[in-house]
Amino acid sequence: MITNSRAPYESFCWHSEIFACDSNDLQQFDELLLQEVERLGMSLRVLGHVDGHPLRLLQPPAADAQLPSVLISSGFHGEEAAGPWGVLHFMSSLTEEIFSQLNLTLLPLVNATGFSKGHRFNMYGENPNRGYLPVADPSIGPSVEGKLLLAHGQILQGASRDGILTCHEDVLLQHTYVYTFEPRQQPGAFSEGLLSALTHYLPVAEASRIDDCPVQDGIIFNHFDSSFEAWLVRNGARNGACSETPGQANFDQRILANSAVMTQFISSFVSR
Ligand code: NI
Repeated sequence: MITNSRAPYESFCWHSEIFACDSNDLQQFDELLLQEVERLGMSLRVLGHVDGHPLRLLQPPAADAQLPSVLISSGFHGEEAAGPWGVLHFMSSLTEEIFSQLNLTLLPLVNATGFSKGHRFNMYGENPNRGYLPVADPSIGPSVEGKLLLAHGQILQGASRDGILTCHEDVLLQHTYVYTFEPRQQPGAFSEGLLSALTHYLPVAEASRIDDCPVQDGIIFNHFDSSFEAWLVRNGARNGACSETPGQANFDQRILANSAVMTQFISSFVSR
């Protein structure tokens, strides 16, 4: 999620052995993404453009109202590159069979202008993960990406009816943690499963507070701010999560952890 302590224009770049390119290689990312969209028969919907870059929503080939509907999103913050690459890795593990089990929608890369430069905010200096819900500070409105997503609110709310997962990173940290939302008092199997997918690859945060939020064993539970995920949970998503992988860890390990948390997320809906 967010803090003000992370520099909006500090540039980060890592090399991926898995994808044989740098973390900010938008051209390679786009090519591989379109190949996966084609292979899986997903339907590509462009929600708008930012500086010529399409904001893409990948929808299931044919939605079935009887199946759970879940949304996975990533790439809100440009320097948190293992999320979008994790989406690609996750997609490459799927077959079309998945769409007979759930309505899976993907928002693979929200902030392309930040991603290509390896910096947090978009090219206008806006934070693409803020302003979805009113907050105390009215100066924090939605970014250009946020406005496009809000304009498609109904589609996104339908796509995330059963669950929303958003994948972030924390460049300052060496440990992983997860924000989760469940309609209960304490974290349940949904939260524990996601955390355990992450900690298979990365050490868990032992801190008791991160970004001013209380953390219990790597989980920040039912914390509402003006983020994309909090907005969707407020609007009816039954379960929600925001994973955080550490920017100080090996880049490919972070990609694998992101892919694993996405796999765990969907498995918590198909096994029900
Ligand atoms: Ni973030």
